[in-house]
Amino acid sequence: MQKSCKNVYITTPIYYVNDIAHIGHAYTTIIADMLARYSRLVGHNTYLLTGTDEHGQKIAQSAEARGKTPKEYADEISGKFRALWDDFDISYDQFIRTTDENHKVGVQKAFSKMFEKGDIYKGEYEGFYCVPCETFYPESQLVDEQFCPECARATILVKEESYFFKLSKYEDKLLKWYEDNPDCILPRAKKNEIVNFVKNELKDLSISRTSFDWGVKLPESMNEPRHVMYVWLDALLNYTTALGYGTDEKNMDFWPANIHLVGKDILRFHAIYWPAFLMSLDLPLPKHIAAHGWWTRDGEKMSKSKGNVVNPKEVADAYGLDAFRYFLLREVPFGQDGDFSQKALINRINSDLGNDLGNLLNRIIGMSGKYFNFNVSSKDVEKFHKKELDEVNTIIDSLESYIYNMQINKYLEEIWKTLSIANKAITDYEPWNLMKENKEDEAMALVALITNIMSKASLLLDSVMPHKIKDIASSLGIEISTENYNKLIIEKKLIDDIKITKVDALFPRIEEVLLSQPEVSDVTVLQKDVSKYESKEELEPLELDGLNLITIDNFFETTIKIGTIVEANEVPKSSKLLILKVDLGENRTRQILAGIKEFYSASELIGTQACVVANLKPVKLMGYLSEGMLLAAKDEDGLSLIRPEKPKKIGTKIS
Ligand code: MSP
Repeated sequence: MQKSCKNVYITTPIYYVNDIAHIGHAYTTIIADMLARYSRLVGHNTYLLTGTDEHGQKIAQSAEARGKTPKEYADEISGKFRALWDDFDISYDQFIRTTDENHKVGVQKAFSKMFEKGDIYKGEYEGFYCVPCETFYPESQLVDEQFCPECARATILVKEESYFFKLSKYEDKLLKWYEDNPDCILPRAKKNEIVNFVKNELKDLSISRTSFDWGVKLPESMNEPRHVMYVWLDALLNYTTALGYGTDEKNMDFWPANIHLVGKDILRFHAIYWPAFLMSLDLPLPKHIAAHGWWTRDGEKMSKSKGNVVNPKEVADAYGLDAFRYFLLREVPFGQDGDFSQKALINRINSDLGNDLGNLLNRIIGMSGKYFNFNVSSKDVEKFHKKELDEVNTIIDSLESYIYNMQINKYLEEIWKTLSIANKAITDYEPWNLMKENKEDEAMALVALITNIMSKASLLLDSVMPHKIKDIASSLGIEISTENYNKLIIEKKLIDDIKITKVDALFPRIEEVLLSQPEVSDVTVLQKDVSKYESKEELEPLELDGLNLITIDNFFETTIKIGTIVEANEVPKSSKLLILKVDLGENRTRQILAGIKEFYSASELIGTQACVVANLKPVKLMGYLSEGMLLAAKDEDGLSLIRPEKPKKIGTKIS
């Protein structure tokens, strides 16, 4: 974040609506929310943007697989994201959807402007495309000639007319921007890979597609009704259309963004494409693009197939939203990958939150109640505790820079040092003995010291744990406000008269029993804790007649379509394989290798229909790419292809 500016604009990525939110989405959003809350408390006019990314081939496919229109599906999942952020009390000022009308208008205006500037030209794209990542890759970057270098899934070969953005034109300007702005990419260490990419691999970018239509159409003036915009052009522009770019411009004075928060996997889009688009649009560039690392679970990559994806709602419901926020922000240095385990979370809750923070509040309540009937004055704190106050103030002075450098874990670590100073002061000065020795002034100064430290810590921690901190603040009788922030943090003043109120323990100890069952996996424990949120299906048996049961969603992960075989040939030197061209109603035919040569001749297959698994990862067989599989049944009498009883329209989905 930039220092001392009036308007502060913070963004999260907009999330694809092909799936519900997981811990990664919650992480980015919580960091953004923390920064926004901090910025507001400091006194900046702050705007936090989040939302959903709803166009593109991936969403169209997910919707189709569920028998919904893309818009119906997007409405449903976008609604779930929004409901989760509301549930998490994310303080967003706007939730943008790329299907919003004014966004689409803004995107078309941007396209026209880039075109008028001579930055867009028409050509033909031939290359590989990863649908899950919505990314084009040159062949040189593929793994084993066909797999996505990012997510390892199979790419598809795309050959279509396309408009291109002259990205290569911006190489020098981009390099100069990185050079002149050492903190434009955070953590700084991430900049090298971006600079190398720009120096070595920058090519013009295909920015329109014609093989599907779920996207923003090109502006009418282009007269290209078959083209929709590449989803990343559409998506990145959300950061400006949200402020009214191309429509009412009403919040454009928030531009440029102070910080775009992103995960490391989408840094390239934000640190290369986005600034180049902005240069083309003659708009100022964002101040910072900050890329966080990825979360694993118990040391393993999370995936739906492993069933180990951390559901943020389950965790927050089971352990408390603020504890979860604290854990996410404290556990991992920003930019590095982190591991989620219940053990680590419980440790943080019991140790940092229970022992250090919660216990300190209990001690304040206990001592102020017992010795001073809950009324304490700060008048002698300077006199008896200048040393501790100086130590605390030195720490406080260092804190701001941790926020500006996105070292949020360090920010928290340092605040915890102030809590240690308070806890240590109690041990060192033994207020119970001071009371016995009739040194009431000294005892009062001590209780006031720790109450002031706690109050300062509360102001500093409000952005991290806004709900629990409100409870602490009300127990201490202070308000979390910019005025108090200025007084206690900036001017380093003390609270004059303190009136303490009792509250229940804020972070009750979570029992170790949760963890002391080695035979129960961590995953199982979590599911047990949150059983009330489990859906009914998950409680049903996993097997039937010796078969593993799947849900209807599992079934729909396989797309089976009716296709017509339009070409069939023998594969040279293979006794089993035929090489087929199958029409599945797409804008190209699929090449499929089938081990059916012993049972069918090539010529008898041409013009017949078959059932094809259409979303199988492509593989290479005997040097030929195979992009699907025909369904067949084989018994002792031989093999038969499975076909519809009566001819069906090409591309019809089997369900
Ligand atoms: N729609 C694009 C972003 C467009 S922004 C103009 C997109 N969406 S996403 O839903 O796939 O991912 C959103 C964010 O979640 C990314 O920042 C990504 O890094 C983050 N994460 C996805 N899995 C993650 C983890 N396992 N851990 C941490 N963050 C991860 O990309």
